[in-house]
Amino acid sequence: MTKPFDRPRRLRSTPAMRRLVAETSLEPRHLVLPMFVADGIDEPKPISSMPGVVQHTRESLRRAAGEAAAAGVGGVMLFGVPAAADKDAVGTAGTDPDGILNAALRDLRTDLGDSTVIMADTCLDEFTDHGHCGVLRDDGVVDNDATLERYAEMAVVQARSGAHVVGPSGMMDAQVGVIRAALDGAGFSETAILAYTAKYSSAFYGPFREAVGSSLQGDRKTYQQDPANLRESMRELALDLAEGADMVMVKPAMSYLDVLRRVADEADVPVAAYQISGEYAMITAAAERGWIDRDKAILESLLGIRRAGADIVLTYWAHEVATALH
Ligand code: PBG
Repeated sequence: MTKPFDRPRRLRSTPAMRRLVAETSLEPRHLVLPMFVADGIDEPKPISSMPGVVQHTRESLRRAAGEAAAAGVGGVMLFGVPAAADKDAVGTAGTDPDGILNAALRDLRTDLGDSTVIMADTCLDEFTDHGHCGVLRDDGVVDNDATLERYAEMAVVQARSGAHVVGPSGMMDAQVGVIRAALDGAGFSETAILAYTAKYSSAFYGPFREAVGSSLQGDRKTYQQDPANLRESMRELALDLAEGADMVMVKPAMSYLDVLRRVADEADVPVAAYQISGEYAMITAAAERGWIDRDKAILESLLGIRRAGADIVLTYWAHEVATALH
C-alpha cells in the first residue's frame, strides 16, 4: 500500500497539536526591555513617535523596572537622557558617576539586586551635543581611538554603578577589547559585554532619536554598517569574539533576519537581536489605523526574530509580552 500523498495539515489540525509540534518558543526570559531615563523632568514624558513608551524619571523608572522584573523579563537595557545643558562635545555626562544613567543604574541595582539582568547602553550619542556616538576630529569625522578611551571610562563607571552587562553600541573598531581590558583593570572581570556586533546604519532608528533628544546632524555611515553588506558582519563577529564579547547582537532585527541567521550559525556565544524603535513604531502605527491586529503582529514579529536565531530579543514590548505569556 502506498499512501496517496503527504498530509502536513495533520500536524496543524488542533491548537494542542500545533502546540506540541511548535519549533520555536517565546518565553519572558528571552525578552529584554529597553528603557529611557531622563534628567530634569518631573513626570514621565511620552515619546510621540513611540506611543506607549516614555522617558522615565528616576522614580518612575524604579517602578517600571521593578514591574518588568516581576513579570519575568530576562533583563532591562538602560539609556540615559541628560538635560540639554549637560550635553557637550565629549559626552561628559555619560561618565559622570552622578549623571542620569549612572545614578539610575545605582537605583536599579539597589532595588533589584541580581533578580534580573541590568544592562547599560555604552555609547556617547545620548550625551554629546553633536549627537554622534563618539568624539569628533577637527574635520567632523568620529575619531575612533579617542572615542575608545571615552567608552572604556564609561564602561567602568557603569559597572561600578551596578550594571551586570555593558552594551557598546557605537561600532568603533576594537571597542570590545578596549572595554574588556578596562573592566578587568578596574576589578570588574565579572561584568559581561553584550557587543553590538552587526549594527547597521538604519532609517528605522528615527523614533529613538526623539526618545533620547538627539540632534544628530548628518549620518552615522562612517561607523555603522551599510545595509548592503552581510559578509562584513562575519568579520565584525570574528573580531568581537576574539576581543572577548560575552554575547553578540544584530540590530535592527526585522530587516536583517538573514544577518541574524548567519551570526547565530557562526557564534559560540548567546545571540541577541534588537527590535528597534522604528519597528515598534511601524507595527503600532498600522495597528492604530486598524490595518493589522496589533497583538498578533507583535507575537509574530518576535517569533520570527527568535526563529531566525536570536536567543535574546530586545523589544519595547518586553514587559507587555512577558505578562501576556504567563
Ligand atoms: C546608540 C543607539 C541607538 C539605538 C540604540 N543605541 C541609536 C543609533 O544608533 O542611532 C537605537 C535603538 C532604537 O532605535 O530603538 N546609542
